[in-house]
Amino acid sequence: MGNCSNGSFLPLVSTPILAFPLMGKGQVLPHEGGVRGGRASGKIILFGEHAVVYGEPALAVPVKKLFAEAKVSTVSRAGIWISAPDIRLYKELPRLPRKHPLASVVDAVFAALDISPPSVLRTSPPEGGEKNGIKIKVTSTIPIASGLGSGAAVSVAIIRALSAYLNSPLNDEKVNEIAYEIEKIHHGTPSGIDNTVITYEKPVFFQNSPLSPRSNAPPPPLQEKPIIKTLQVTKPFTILIANTGIHAPTKKSVADVRKLWEEDTKKIETLFTAIGSITRTARQAIEGGHPERLGALMNENHRILQEVDVSCQELDRLTEASLNAGALGAKLSGGGRGGNMIALSTKENTPAIAEALLKSGAKNVIVTEIK
Ligand code: MEV
Repeated sequence: MGNCSNGSFLPLVSTPILAFPLMGKGQVLPHEGGVRGGRASGKIILFGEHAVVYGEPALAVPVKKLFAEAKVSTVSRAGIWISAPDIRLYKELPRLPRKHPLASVVDAVFAALDISPPSVLRTSPPEGGEKNGIKIKVTSTIPIASGLGSGAAVSVAIIRALSAYLNSPLNDEKVNEIAYEIEKIHHGTPSGIDNTVITYEKPVFFQNSPLSPRSNAPPPPLQEKPIIKTLQVTKPFTILIANTGIHAPTKKSVADVRKLWEEDTKKIETLFTAIGSITRTARQAIEGGHPERLGALMNENHRILQEVDVSCQELDRLTEASLNAGALGAKLSGGGRGGNMIALSTKENTPAIAEALLKSGAKNVIVTEIK
């Protein structure tokens, strides 16, 4: 069995589709004086994590109870100031390393709008007055490094708020594109599912271009863009999300899986193909109105993720506890090695499962209705 991270506790797709224009619910917050705000929710992966990096499909849904917010305002002090109180950061943009995700996302928005930051500082602020600087304040209720999409949500919130402040709100496709570039800094070789589900804030079926890292696999059909389809949830279902409290950076587990894949490509490919098939069956169950069928699929997906060595004692303990308390199925969600697990529940069993998870060491439990 894998070890937990030693981080601190603290509609069926049959045709190849190029970019599919999902109608997102992009959240630019209402104008508040001179302040422009953006918000983006967290996410969970229902099926297909890790395998999705290798060209298999995955299903992900937004978790609106958790969100990141960015507020951009004019300040009297010259310069562009980044404030992220949750991580005790207050710095002028040029003082952050260029590869810092917050600096990179701000730079990327200016670049996308073809604006050079000093020219912004020379223009009048939206409410008139003196030539000033701007402050970008970021807050988030999404736990960091726990598989809930905190990095992508922060990026999306900043992109929305800053582009709105600059009077050129970017569309969802562009927001998603920039957020994906920043995900590469967070995750190394991300599939793109996190930024996609968070940008469009809808349940998605996502399959990356099979121009995958499978360098010694037969050449795949050429697709430049991922398949992104709205997942139609015909009958709502309840998912509990339980946090192990263990910080587990996705970048590390993705890199470890890559090593395993390099050591034994055939074995890992076989496991990922099985995950791909589970994910497609899960999609049929969700769209066909049979969410109860997801339970067995979740258990099987978790078992395979154990084989890929991304589970750990705490995740296994929580999945077992939820099953013993009546969950229909359970699995880790996201990068693994800590972070969060999810359990499928009936409405009646939800309180008992939540209690069992907390008794078994979950740091907190979120109940979410998938619809
Ligand atoms: C992270 O939420 C999901 C992973 O599959 C990584 C990725 O898809 O980029 C582990």
